[in-house]
Amino acid sequence: MGRLVRFGVSLESDLLSRFDRLIRERSYTCRSEALRDLIRQELVQKQWSEGSEIAGAVTLIYDHHRRELVNTLMDIQHNFGSIIISSSHIHLDHNNCLEIIAVKGSPEDAQRLTDSLKSVKGVKHGVLSMSSTGKGL
Ligand code: NI
Repeated sequence: MGRLVRFGVSLESDLLSRFDRLIRERSYTCRSEALRDLIRQELVQKQWSEGSEIAGAVTLIYDHHRRELVNTLMDIQHNFGSIIISSSHIHLDHNNCLEIIAVKGSPEDAQRLTDSLKSVKGVKHGVLSMSSTGKGL
């Protein structure tokens, strides 16, 4: 972590009121922490758009009873073995499985993996959580 620097920000009063209301709703204890998170969120988006090394997670919900679907999902994951660092399978209920696949690598590969998994018939929901390796934040 770098040296802490204080700086002044000028804002319209109504914009600041809306910001204060928002950070209260989000449980921030001070403006500085909320502002730091906003800045980091922008930096993470920049890492994704510029193709830097990123980390994230693919979450999938799918039908447990489709055996061929499970094999297809495994085949796809083997093809992306270089970016998958971990995966967890949770039996949600009698019919539904939840799978969380942690990834680290290029944003393009993470997106291609997600698109490949989501488009398999029987996958009810799939989403890519775009996060960071923590470097540069
Ligand atoms: Ni299951």
